[in-house]
Amino acid sequence: MEVCYNCFREKQTPGPCPHCGYDEAQDRDRYPLALNHGAILDGRYIVGRVLGQGGFGITYTAYDDKEKGLVAIKEYFPTDFVGRTQNTGMVCLYSGDRRKNFEYGKELFLEEARTMASFMNDGRIVRVHRFFEEKNTAYFTMELVDGDSLDRYTRKKGGRLSPEEADRLLIPLVQALDGVHAKGIVHRDIAPDNILVRKDGTAVLIDFGAARYSTEEKSRSLDVVVKHGFAPKEQYSRHGKQGPFTDIYALAATWYFAVTGEIPPDSIERIEEDSLVMPSAKGIKVNRKIEAVYRKALSVEASDRYQNMREFYTALKKAEEKPAAATSAIPRKALIGILIGLLAAVLILAAVLVVTSLGNQGSSQGSSISVSTTTPVPTTSPTSTPTPTPTPTPARKPTPTPTPTPTPTPTPSPEDLEKDIATLDKTSRKGDGTQTAEETPEPTPTPEPEESDPPEIKKDGAISGGGGDYYDGGSGGGSSGGMG
Ligand SMILES: Nc1ncnc2c1ncn2[C@@H]1O[C@H](COP(=O)(O)OP(=O)(O)OP(=O)(O)O)[C@@H](O)[C@H]1O
Ligand SMILES: [Mg+2]
Repeated sequence: MEVCYNCFREKQTPGPCPHCGYDEAQDRDRYPLALNHGAILDGRYIVGRVLGQGGFGITYTAYDDKEKGLVAIKEYFPTDFVGRTQNTGMVCLYSGDRRKNFEYGKELFLEEARTMASFMNDGRIVRVHRFFEEKNTAYFTMELVDGDSLDRYTRKKGGRLSPEEADRLLIPLVQALDGVHAKGIVHRDIAPDNILVRKDGTAVLIDFGAARYSTEEKSRSLDVVVKHGFAPKEQYSRHGKQGPFTDIYALAATWYFAVTGEIPPDSIERIEEDSLVMPSAKGIKVNRKIEAVYRKALSVEASDRYQNMREFYTALKKAEEKPAAATSAIPRKALIGILIGLLAAVLILAAVLVVTSLGNQGSSQGSSISVSTTTPVPTTSPTSTPTPTPTPTPARKPTPTPTPTPTPTPTPSPEDLEKDIATLDKTSRKGDGTQTAEETPEPTPTPEPEESDPPEIKKDGAISGGGGDYYDGGSGGGSSGGMG
């Protein structure tokens, strides 16, 4: 009897799993530095397939024999600093500075695991359960999210998402990141491959790896923590000041990817000549006000962006309140015409009512009532306001009845409409294309075939084992920590 190292169900024969389709043989060559299938960690976790490998770590599925369920385990494995003894799975360390860097990074890895665990009940940040040291390195276990990474999800959905769906997925992450920043942590690697979409359609943020390594000069791998298209300018420089605005740029770039299906141009390439084309200029229907918020968040200069997630969130919510499209359909001239027409109609109606009233008074009330001084003179002058006489003539209802209006929807005042039109004019001019969302039909997205692993978005870090001067630190064992 065999076991599938993806779903951990039993199968009769080697080869692809009849339950989940996973083919173990294919994984072997893809991740030569990974732990073997079936390796045991912390006396309870049976290591399964590799979910992903980056410059700093390898993430596996695993079966928790204690809790009898599946988990994800991340192993600290900075490829620049280590290799592996394949039969024991022990991590081999280089000597000298690289070893120091490795040790330092390992401390930060565990520290980060602790921090992530403090977001246990958040739901928008992956739940970290436990961490421990073994095989010369460190591990933490997480909930195994049943879903796809955002880039894969987007491709499965035909190459791009509707702006509404992108907002629904990403705006909760703006709030979650506000909490992360409040703890002094900047994620620094927000990108579609570090956001998972659960089966219930909610997004969850993973991989705080870059947050660990880029804080200190000690790490020489700073340059690895740059994901082209998503990393802002300041991440390309060792001395670039980073902060919440760094994550704001990356999240906005992720929105751009989701909505257009394209990776935005590199931030450093945009310094000389900004080739960023916003979705509306590509003919994608999008709320222009929301787009303007993301445009600001995608400013090359950090000082031009929102400075914290709260500002960013408030701007997004404000932009959501009144869709630009609803106010943009009426041209300015037509609007003025309508207003003049309405005014004229009211005045004419008032004049007719007054004339009718005078006629009625003349016939029904007789000459006993002197009207020569008290009755207002009807006039057609557009500046005068007709005042009703107190006579309750049925044809005359100039005084509005105070009927309660049940609809709380704010009707835009003419001033608001004017303002919106002005804003819209500006936004249209800002775009580098001549098309507008209303004029251009949406391009039909080309569905891509499903792939087992998203290859497009990768860090620059090379995945290599390295040879050379190994130090094998001895036995496995090690400390472990539980977090709830
Ligand atoms: N908790 C999880 N549940 C399901 N899949 C996960 C989980 N964590 C990670 N993955 C998958 O594994 C991939 C790699 O994980 P992760 O992003 O944490 O590390 P990485 O980018 O490979 O490494 P690095 O730390 O070097 O950046 C992810 O893109 C995702 O597809
Ligand atoms: Mg990642």
